[in-house]
Amino acid sequence: MAKKITDIDKQYLWHPFTQMQDWLANDQLIIERGDGVYLYDINGNKYIDGVSSLWVTVHGHHHRKINRAIKNQLDKIAHSTLLGLGNVPAIELAKKLVEITPKGLNKVFYSDDGSTAVEIALKMAFQYWQQTKIQNPKSLPVRQAGKILNKFKTQNSKLKTKFITLENAYHGDTIGSVSVGGIDLFHKIYRPLLFKSYKVKVGDIEGLEALLKEKNHEIAAMIVEPIVQGAAGMLMMPKGYLKAVRQLCTKYNVLLICDEVATGFGRTGKMFACEHENVSPDIMCIAKGITGGYLPLAATLTTDKIYNAFLGQQEEEKTFFHGHTYTGNPLACAAALASLKIFKQEKTLANLQPKIRLLEKGLKRFSKLPHVREIRQRGFMVGIELTKNVGQPVILEARRRGAILRPLGDIIILMPPLSIAKNELKKLLRITYEAITLC
Ligand SMILES: Cc1ncc(COP(=O)(O)O)c(C=O)c1O
Repeated sequence: MAKKITDIDKQYLWHPFTQMQDWLANDQLIIERGDGVYLYDINGNKYIDGVSSLWVTVHGHHHRKINRAIKNQLDKIAHSTLLGLGNVPAIELAKKLVEITPKGLNKVFYSDDGSTAVEIALKMAFQYWQQTKIQNPKSLPVRQAGKILNKFKTQNSKLKTKFITLENAYHGDTIGSVSVGGIDLFHKIYRPLLFKSYKVKVGDIEGLEALLKEKNHEIAAMIVEPIVQGAAGMLMMPKGYLKAVRQLCTKYNVLLICDEVATGFGRTGKMFACEHENVSPDIMCIAKGITGGYLPLAATLTTDKIYNAFLGQQEEEKTFFHGHTYTGNPLACAAALASLKIFKQEKTLANLQPKIRLLEKGLKRFSKLPHVREIRQRGFMVGIELTKNVGQPVILEARRRGAILRPLGDIIILMPPLSIAKNELKKLLRITYEAITLC
């Protein structure tokens, strides 16, 4: 059976972010089931899920309460559309999401994954300015070489069509999300297809202010991964930078989009990374951990101000013409509701804090290893940067020892489910340490 399913995989499947030539040449791991923090392959081998099945699993696999919530919903209905109709779990979840996200985010627009949540944020910001009059243009004269530029530039919000993004940004794989991305390996081949964005260096507040001062009349929004740039290899924002970005965006009348797809739902130690600097964005994208890692679901949240700019008579054509077929799927929303309940019942965030400290302590000895360049950690997001390109051998060694990891180039990522027990976390650290030592 194991051999057969592996052969069928090789014959029919094309795996994401995978060089298929390597995949075909090697024996691959096929997962059959999960329980708690463990994954089991088709041969019955057991592994710690060290990356939360691509950063999504929160309370562990096969959680009794989430299973039950999905089964209960299944007995009512699996899917009905949100285009022109409502459904009960999607409505209840929207209310809960507004309650737990930063102040001011009062409206929820659903989609299916992180990339679509970002795509929606970009279109929403763009369309907002097309439908909005700038109230007080005189407050922000655009100056260049001492002269005040054509006032039309500050008055015509329709010119606000561009975006600012950060170097090394990753916001997903659809064309809009790639346009605001900054990882050459993934993005450069598509450049002819992409719209141009302004790129700024993380931490360079003066550079950002200079750009905003000169170009605010043409900038719709700035998009950031708050606190941690995950896919870039767990790069940390300097303290205070997110707050400064918020203040500058407000000062120059540019919307702030926070992409919490990777950082949301407890990953950084708080429910959302924005909370570390008390920041409320104008638009926020969430996905990955929203269902506890069970089903594809995402949401883009925004303010009343932005939402209101889309209200009008049909013939005014202010409607947000965007929507995916499975938007607000009831099964996924039921899973998300159950996951949020577990956050409360199991005190997930409070119980996480000593485990974050344990992780920090356990990582200390890694820095003494000869081929470890740097260790970066925020909450349960860890990047161990190696000096040589042994990412792949390290994860294969870890697999032999009973842990599933996934590298980003030569950076080993650790991102276990928040529910991991202390002894399991110690085991994951030990396996990772041994695997790095041996490679
Ligand atoms: C910050 C961020 N945004 C967006 C995405 C894309 O999410 P998805 O893979 O669900 O489309 C990711 C995925 O890793 C991410 O880390």
